[in-house]
Amino acid sequence: MGNWLLILTICAAAIQSCVAVDRGNFKTCDQNAFCKRQRATQPGNSPWEILLDSLNSTINSLQVQVISSRSQARLQLQLIALADSTLHFELDEVNPIKLRYRAQESLSGSPQLSSLKITEQSSDSISLSFGGTGKAILLVKPFRLDVYDGDQLVISVNARGLLNFEHQRVRKSNEAARNEEPASEPTEGETTAEAEIKHPDEKPVEEEEEPGLWEETFKSHVDSKPYGPTSVGVDISFPGSRHVYGIPEHADTFALKQTKNGDPYRLYNTDVFEYELYNPMALYGAVPFMMAKRQQGTVGIFWNNAAETYVDIEESSSGSVVSSLMNLVSGGGNEPHQQTHWFSESGIIDLYIMIGPTPKDVVRQYGSLTGKTPLPQRFALGYHQCRWNYNDQEDVHSVNKGFDLHDIPYDVLWLDIEHTDSKKYFTWDPVKFPDPLEMVHNLTANGRKLVTIVDPHMKRDSSYFFHEHCEQNDFYVKDKSGKIYEGWCWPGSASYPDFFNPAVRDYWASRFALDKYEGTSLDVYTWNDMNEPSVFNGPEVTMPKDCLHYGGYEHRDVHNMYGMMVVEGTIRGQLMRSDYKLRPFVLSRSFFAGSQRFGAVWTGDNIADWEHLAIAVPMLLSLSVSGIPFCGADVGGFFNNPNTELLTRWYQAGAFQPFFRGHAHLHTKRREPWLFDEQTNKLIKASIKKRYTYLPYWYTLFYEHEKTAVPPMRPLWMEYPQDAETFSMDNQYLLGDSILVHPVVRSGEQEVSVYFPGVDTLWYEIETYKVYEAPGYQTIPVAIEKIPIFQRGGTIVPKKERARRASSLMTKDPYTFIVTLDKQGKAQGRLYIDDGQSLEYQKGSYIILELNMEGHTLSSKVTNQGAFETPELIEKIVIVGLSRAPSSIADNTGRILEYRYDATSQSLVLRKPNFSVSNEWSVNLKM
Ligand code: GLC
Repeated sequence: MGNWLLILTICAAAIQSCVAVDRGNFKTCDQNAFCKRQRATQPGNSPWEILLDSLNSTINSLQVQVISSRSQARLQLQLIALADSTLHFELDEVNPIKLRYRAQESLSGSPQLSSLKITEQSSDSISLSFGGTGKAILLVKPFRLDVYDGDQLVISVNARGLLNFEHQRVRKSNEAARNEEPASEPTEGETTAEAEIKHPDEKPVEEEEEPGLWEETFKSHVDSKPYGPTSVGVDISFPGSRHVYGIPEHADTFALKQTKNGDPYRLYNTDVFEYELYNPMALYGAVPFMMAKRQQGTVGIFWNNAAETYVDIEESSSGSVVSSLMNLVSGGGNEPHQQTHWFSESGIIDLYIMIGPTPKDVVRQYGSLTGKTPLPQRFALGYHQCRWNYNDQEDVHSVNKGFDLHDIPYDVLWLDIEHTDSKKYFTWDPVKFPDPLEMVHNLTANGRKLVTIVDPHMKRDSSYFFHEHCEQNDFYVKDKSGKIYEGWCWPGSASYPDFFNPAVRDYWASRFALDKYEGTSLDVYTWNDMNEPSVFNGPEVTMPKDCLHYGGYEHRDVHNMYGMMVVEGTIRGQLMRSDYKLRPFVLSRSFFAGSQRFGAVWTGDNIADWEHLAIAVPMLLSLSVSGIPFCGADVGGFFNNPNTELLTRWYQAGAFQPFFRGHAHLHTKRREPWLFDEQTNKLIKASIKKRYTYLPYWYTLFYEHEKTAVPPMRPLWMEYPQDAETFSMDNQYLLGDSILVHPVVRSGEQEVSVYFPGVDTLWYEIETYKVYEAPGYQTIPVAIEKIPIFQRGGTIVPKKERARRASSLMTKDPYTFIVTLDKQGKAQGRLYIDDGQSLEYQKGSYIILELNMEGHTLSSKVTNQGAFETPELIEKIVIVGLSRAPSSIADNTGRILEYRYDATSQSLVLRKPNFSVSNEWSVNLKM
């Protein structure tokens, strides 16, 4: 039995390497018929016009048909004004043969409506106003939508005339003589497919067979395309903006690159083995959201489509037709700007336009559409220890003990696929894990948790309850002929529950109940992996597009959302098992817009090399600005063995990134910190401990994210939107508005050049309090002991400085506040506190302490006083940036407080003021 399992495991690992080892396993645009067709659409000659006779409007919306002057094909356009300066643009076929898929699961609810007014109408255009300062003009011929913020043109849809909407049609061979009228040759701006539509209301018939319209082959895989070509695409330009960001997941720079001379950025969730860096290939997740930045403003667009999608990016050249058109409209200079071209294989054009104007406005606008990450339990922000695999119960015990022995805090131990009985999820290997509950109790005795992996490929084994249940209840995804689809994944032959069926998600959720998932307790949480879904023998390592889902949709329509639907079920399962008392925790590899509502994601199977350490910053920033703030990269690198310098630098960076987990491949050397030399062990320990001291700050940032949608990890331009120096920055970032991080990502680095943003702003190194003046670059030496991290002058950061074994053991520990003064001697900060685990905070059970220092007085104000009881005290206040010592310090009751002033670092430490966090207090420095 043992040997058999070992063989299977090795085979599974080998299969992954055999199947997905090179680029050749993934399509380029040229190998993808719809990508080629859409990309071939010529600009500047759009046949589409608005049919003014069909105009209808309500107080929130406008409906009008758009017609192709060449083919007479008709589309239904709907514009809807939404709250908070957001405009919804929807374009669908007027009379589709089959309803097209609408990706509603990405939205967090029905968006709130706002008023849409027609302010002017002529035979050439319709002028509209929406949500405060928003204005839009619909141009009749050719059809185009221009969106303004005040008088500034900020977004233009179809300005280049690339709108290309492939109607569903009946295949000529299927309906021979139904329509004898011959098709004309396509003209510029029109594809073959569009030219063939002669009688849209009578279901157009295709005349010519262009390759890839009704069937497409990639390697040995044939995609049957029973509905023919159905792709949709249009261009979206951003006048004034030279930088665009978002559309994760790509291993590329944060500011997106021009794609004209290569492939477009691809969004198609796939399991890419040893992914390459700095290219537009698709990875595990897809968020079709983009932010465009100009010096004076920011806008966002959300292309809500779950099918395979591409985005081309091209900077306008000044003097081009389109650029002159833009300038004519905007009256602006002949400035180059970003032009993008979006196209998806199926679905509708479902576009949300957000006009900002600040980056924080855009993330809020997008957050109110697709949701925010609810505040995680505090433990989830601690350090996670993972590897493929911790071999058995004994191994888990000894790793757990090792952390204690070496005095290293950690919160969660993770079990990968080998813990299951033959890769049957929700089960345990009876030999290696004979008593999982005893093991869990051993972890929880030290305040720690366990995470187990639960993947969505189900072993086809008639003795496996889950498989049997799915077969009996018709829960699996079907192949194109309607039979249960069988693919190959870790367990060997597997089938895939159809998570688009609500009954399947209910069943999945029910399996997390403690009496169903034996060996678990409320301290066991979940990792959903391989949920793209990964299919080792499928086309591009995933499910064939002609597989069938609930509601009659093809996999092609919903692909990018499959992974998110898995996690929705898991989250609900965790909520149900605790009777909706505890906050859930799930880590997912695959994601889509809206996945943020269900927890954390990570960047998948990275490699233990310096470039992968460096790319984590742009990848996590891209996720963060695209609504997914709880994200991380495998610390140390998943594949291969990092040397001690790389591992140390990775821990130093990871400790200051949102999701902090060490993880490694089955065939790598063990990496528990104490297995390295003394210095490495010491430095890794110091990084993890540093993370723990900042947990109150992280926790406050995640609370603020839930309220405002602003991500904890953010690009510098989110706080300094007009500082062009920050627009293409990949090597530093902010945590909240107070901490600046510049990871060291090169071997042997002796010094780095750090950019300090802000006008008249001071930045203090977090340990020495050495001060740097902004704006500008400064050279900072970087010995192996630490990476450059600074706190902005004018801020107050809450910390807990007592070292514990896990975050749950810090609950009652006292706080330290680090007050770094700005040039006026002022500072502000905030601390959020609740019970760290339950959902009671959503009912108001929390405290927010607002801290303010001004005129030598530091004072606190409590929001929600009495709503949450806690014994926590403040044991230390450090005030940095004081040029001389005060003569005395007293609190608001007149009590004289002890302090120590250090002239070198110009800092003062106030020991044991012992204020309660629940009370209001102040301290006055007599200077
Ligand atoms: C995938 C995951 C990796 C995991 C492995 C085995 O490759 O990305 O993190 O360890 O599967 O489950």
